[in-house]
Parts: sequence; C-alpha cells; structure tokens
Amino acid sequence: MCGLELPTDPNLIAGAATGEDAGVYRLNDDTALIQTVDFFTPIVDDPYQFGQVAAANALSDVYAMGGKPLLAMNLVAFPIKELNRSVLQEILRGGLDKIKEAGALLVGGHSIEDAELKYGLSVTGVVHPQRVVLNSGAKVGDRLLLTKPLGTGILSTALKGGLAGKGTEAMLIKVMATLNREAAQLMQAVGVHACTDITGFGLVGHLYEMALASGVAIRIEAQAVPVMPETLQYAAMGIIPEGAYKNKAFYAPHLKSALAELDPREMVLFDPQTSGGLLIAASAEGINALAEGLGKGDYSLDFGIIGEVVAGRPGTIEIVA
Ligand code: CO
Ligand code: CO
Repeated sequence: MCGLELPTDPNLIAGAATGEDAGVYRLNDDTALIQTVDFFTPIVDDPYQFGQVAAANALSDVYAMGGKPLLAMNLVAFPIKELNRSVLQEILRGGLDKIKEAGALLVGGHSIEDAELKYGLSVTGVVHPQRVVLNSGAKVGDRLLLTKPLGTGILSTALKGGLAGKGTEAMLIKVMATLNREAAQLMQAVGVHACTDITGFGLVGHLYEMALASGVAIRIEAQAVPVMPETLQYAAMGIIPEGAYKNKAFYAPHLKSALAELDPREMVLFDPQTSGGLLIAASAEGINALAEGLGKGDYSLDFGIIGEVVAGRPGTIEIVA
C-alpha cells in the first residue's frame, strides 16, 4: 500500500503488504480473525438486487481466505435529498438477506449523505490458523478451478447500453448474487493450496497476482474457461468496458497468448468482474474433488477446470487456444 509503513506482527497471517483478499490475524491456536471491507456504486437498477450483489461481493473476501463470515456491518452513502428512503430500505433488505444466507449476523453500520449512492459491508470472519488459504501457495503441477462464469463487466455494459434483455439481466444478477460459500466450504473439506476471488483485475489480473505471489507460471486453456451466455457476442461487437482495456494494457507484458489480438475470448479474460468466482489451485485430486462437490450440491453456476500451474518466470500467464 503506496509508501505507508505497514505493521508487522507475529500473529499477522495476512496483511495489507501481501495483496491478499482480507486481513487475517491469529487469536489463538484454533482461531484466526478475518477482516475485510468492500463497497461500490450501483451496478444494477433494482435496489434490492444491488444490495444482494454488494453484500455477496463483500462476503466473498472472507470465503477467498477459506473462512466463515460471522459478523457484518453496513456501509452506506446515500443522496437523501434526491432519492426516496424506500430505495435505501430495499438495498439494506437485499444485503441483509445475503448476510443471513451466509449464516452471519448484521451488527451495525454507518451511513453518510453523499451525492453518489454507495453500499457495501465490512465483514468479520474466522478460520483455523493452519487452514488459511492464501493466494501465494500455488505449486507446480496444481490444477486451477474457477467457480463462476466470466462476463459481468461486458454484460453490465450491454445492459447499460440497452442492448441486453431482461433474461440476460436476471442471469447476470444471479451469478453476481451467488455466495462463494459452497466453494469455500469444499476448499476446507478437500484441502487446497491457494485461492483468490476474481474482481476488478479480471481473470488474467488475478491469475498474475497468484502466480507472482506463488513464484510460478500458469497455463490456461481458453476453451475451458466458463463464460456467461451472450458475453462473447457482445465482446465481438466491441461492447467492452474500459476497465477491460486497462487490464489488458497493464497485464499484457506478462501474457503469452495463442489467441489473436482483439479475439473476443481474450477480452473476456480481461473483463473486470463484480462479485466473481473463486480461483482455486490444488492438486489434481483436490480439484477433481472440488468439481465433484460443486457438481452434486445445490450449486447451479457454471464452473470449470481452466488450466494448470507450471514452472516458468513467476507471474507469466500462457493462454492456449
Ligand atoms: Co477479493
Ligand atoms: Co475485495
């Protein structure tokens, strides 16, 4: 974190210095505390659904560490002079429903007046200190699983442009509002090496972070990456958010891609995600067990075994067509 003198402590398992999804602090031999905070401006029109998505997104950073959320607090910035209070009520109701679904408790919050609406949560969770899943543990030979399909940035852009219909919107919201809980529980049952959740840097950006932190390279099979329906068509039409181009410019030096320049399948890999899935590295057996577990439960989203961890210059991402 830019130029700040960050604390060190023998009990600090993950802090701001390590680029993890959340801070993790060992309380005793059995329990470590996980702390995270996330909020953003509306990405869908319906306030209840926005509340659900924002809460699922904030809770995800606890799941990405392999943890279980316990407590949540609302963070609200609201233009009270322009918007009806009922809008805020609906946002908070959506958030609370997700907090309940996660088995956590809403214990408070803070709101301010602001010209631009924002909502999110601070979340406190727990994990066994020996079972914390960092993004730095990927090993050569590991396989990689992605638990949600990509495309939230591209489809949101298509919706904003009035191109996509109600069905697409419903599908997109379902993907973003789905908790990463199942995958996090399965990670603890199976035992994995590394995890992070896919958000603003897009799949390639988060792959790079994991590969660099783990001192490995990663090979991805473009065909195996789950993508939401219609995403590739919109990408081919150039309906691509600016953030995807920024990600591409930033991460391209670390990428070896067999896909053609501006291939829509490549742009999807750079698409910034909101409340994206977990990216998990584990042994082949571990990944197969995770895929089997996700396949037979109530989990209804597309997921995929998308590639493997290989030896190479740390942080290098190879895309195979
Ligand atoms: Co995260
Ligand atoms: Co986050």
